[in-house]
Amino acid sequence: MLKCSDTTHTLGFEHQSRSELLSSIIIAAVGRNRVIGVDGRLPWRIPDDMARFRSLTTGHALLMGRATYESIGRPLPDRTTIVLTRQRGWAADGVITAHSLDDGLALAQDAGVDCFIAGGAEVYSEALSVADRMELTEVHSEPHGDTFFPEVDWGRWDEVARDQRDGFDFVSYARRQGRSGGIRQIVLRTWQHLCR
Ligand SMILES: NC(=O)c1ccc[n+]([C@@H]2O[C@H](COP(=O)([O-])OP(=O)(O)OC[C@H]3O[C@@H](n4cnc5c(N)ncnc54)[C@H](OP(=O)(O)O)[C@@H]3O)[C@@H](O)[C@H]2O)c1
Repeated sequence: MLKCSDTTHTLGFEHQSRSELLSSIIIAAVGRNRVIGVDGRLPWRIPDDMARFRSLTTGHALLMGRATYESIGRPLPDRTTIVLTRQRGWAADGVITAHSLDDGLALAQDAGVDCFIAGGAEVYSEALSVADRMELTEVHSEPHGDTFFPEVDWGRWDEVARDQRDGFDFVSYARRQGRSGGIRQIVLRTWQHLCR
């Protein structure tokens, strides 16, 4: 007999990432050449993109690598800031630290909020296999840069919305659900609901 304390492993979802239990959303602004950063900062200044970032992420968790956090320099208001670092002694005021992506996602889940994964390159690379949505600002230029968004297997993603602007598009992608994947999600979510 299953109990609510049973893990996803017991339920037969061991191959399914823990992060699939919550909404984990990659958020990034990406050039046509996949550039996302240069010299530790953004290669552009797009006020509408910053406004959209604020609007989408407010009230939720922001999960980011230590370098991205240091380029911002402070926790952003009205959001739970979770910083990934492998340095056990690293800390900053107003910030929660996590030492692995899974731990960071679990902290957001414990806080009961969606988790926006805000880069940089290393974090995006790891998160691509577990995120269920992507909110991308596709910038219509090829700036010089030293940090790149990972190659995406677009066969695994559906474009669900596109808002064309002057010089960039806001594009929403959802992970494509296989038939069995969809059924697994329904069973898992029903189980979680019953355990509330
Ligand atoms: N265009 C955009 O939307 C966007 C978004 C974000 C960032 N950026 C740009 O990207 C650049 C920074 O990105 P980056 O790739 O250099 O660095 P980053 O991913 O922000 O940070 C890398 C650091 O994060 C920690 N980390 C990463 N994965 C981890 C894991 N699985 N477990 C524990 N710790 C982990 C490590 O910190 P420790 O070294 O402390 O162990 C690692 O050195 C900047 O130029 C920034 O402006 C652009």
